[in-house]
Amino acid sequence: MRLTDRPTWKALLAHCREMGETRILDLFDRDPERPSGFSLEACGILFDYSKNPVSAETRRLLLALAEDASIPAQVAAMFEGKRINVTEKRAVLHTALRNRSKKPITVDGQDVMPGVRAVLGRMRGMAERVRGGIAKGVTGKAFTDIVNIGIGGSDLGPLMVTTALRPYGSPGLRAHFVSNVDGAHLAATLAVVNPETTLFIISSKTFTTLETLTNAKSAREWLLTKLAAAGPAEILVEHHFAAVSTNLEATAAFGIIPERVFGFWDWVGGRYSLWSAIGLPIALTLGFERFEELLAGAFEMDEHFRTTPLERNLPAMAALIGLWHIDFLGHRTLAILPYAQDLLYLPAFLQQLDMESNGKRVDRSGAAADYLTGPVIWGAPGTNGQHAFFQHLHQGTQVTPADFIVAANAVDTLPGHNDMLLANCIAQTEALLRGKSADEVRAELKARGMQGEELERLTPHRVFPGNRPSNTLVLQRLDPRSLGALIAFYEHKVFVQGAIWNINSFDQWGVELGKQLAGGVLADLESGKPAAGHDPSTRRLIEYVLKSRNDVTT
Ligand code: F6P
Repeated sequence: MRLTDRPTWKALLAHCREMGETRILDLFDRDPERPSGFSLEACGILFDYSKNPVSAETRRLLLALAEDASIPAQVAAMFEGKRINVTEKRAVLHTALRNRSKKPITVDGQDVMPGVRAVLGRMRGMAERVRGGIAKGVTGKAFTDIVNIGIGGSDLGPLMVTTALRPYGSPGLRAHFVSNVDGAHLAATLAVVNPETTLFIISSKTFTTLETLTNAKSAREWLLTKLAAAGPAEILVEHHFAAVSTNLEATAAFGIIPERVFGFWDWVGGRYSLWSAIGLPIALTLGFERFEELLAGAFEMDEHFRTTPLERNLPAMAALIGLWHIDFLGHRTLAILPYAQDLLYLPAFLQQLDMESNGKRVDRSGAAADYLTGPVIWGAPGTNGQHAFFQHLHQGTQVTPADFIVAANAVDTLPGHNDMLLANCIAQTEALLRGKSADEVRAELKARGMQGEELERLTPHRVFPGNRPSNTLVLQRLDPRSLGALIAFYEHKVFVQGAIWNINSFDQWGVELGKQLAGGVLADLESGKPAAGHDPSTRRLIEYVLKSRNDVTT
């Protein structure tokens, strides 16, 4: 039966109509226990979803929908290594990468854990050798800089985590991330590193990604030119390049020696891969113990997700609240607002995680979805956003649900800053909820001596409608363990939503067409003439660029 024909879906539609204009504040008035009744705590994370237009009845109906979609069975299928990525006939086992138990995890009867442990062991060895100054550059100097060349899942995860855990980093070993095929990205990075002490990690699951291979080749050229006097090309590449990939033939063809190649498996999706050897920059810069703590935090969330009934299950409840916003209230975006500068890249990371997973228009059977699926994810660090786009959140014509993320304790701060940060975060959720009525505005203006026409003219501009929904996630502190749990929380939230929408959250065919067409446009640019078959606008753009370009290579 189609999702929208199911009685559980229809019951939610009817309930949504009944809820009508119910304000969230009314729900607090009706239920004094709401703050604790509509929040959950696990793995060091408080998930407060009380500031959403969700009553006990809404929750009951959402949970019924989840049961109807056999969420517990779908969760079990993922953890058991079933080939739930139906379009690519692959298992989905990023959870095996952080499985801290002794339990085997099998795909088609084959235990994947020995392979996982072997790669982790090699990562540990590499991290210890690089951090201990045993692995050196070709001229005998210890490495001071790591340049990760990768894009999408082979970039965002390690970039986000190494940035988030900055206070745990090693000052003597800096990580840089180059993703954009715009030569400016690589050039700017190469300008600040010393070839003698730089280790390049080429991270690409497929080792066919144009951006990554282009950057990798340019980096190799640069190194070979800079260190020409230090030895032949293969020796330079041997010392200064490592690779993370599932395509071992291609890494060998690039010249990277097998001892420096870290493999992973087709059952790890790119956007779920930071727990694999794709996390090598994390292990190198923070140390392998920290990387293991990250895995342990994620494992703790996996266990919570796998074993906890849906009504007390953080990722499941977050998924249901999101689904309520998207499919029943029509709120199509979600703002990710970390109140932590070190979580700068979390919105971009979650953008790929959610939008590449659930940005799908057909269900698993290929039928067009007649309901909304994944939301548009966007965001930025909270206090900065307050002085930029929060105007829209408070007074815009669209309602944007938001996730506020904050740590109760700072790892590394200056006197007074953390309370200010916390105060801003909490106050914003309050302001969105409460708003400010016309009467309150008038009273405020009167108290300042304003009256008459001027007061009435200004009042509507200063009214906040309020009733704007948000979740708040409070971590004890931003450390490897809690970050691991937080990322796994979002991974599983995305899983539950995709499972209810009956879509395959683990393929990404939507990225292919652009890649394909880019090949054709590149040929046009290189030949200086657009081929036949482009639409008139595209043809005109190619002609315009051909006429105006004047490349300057320094
Ligand atoms: O084009 C999208 C994508 O395939 C992502 O799913 C992936 O994370 C990224 O490109 C990088 O792919 P790879 O690791 O194979 O270079």
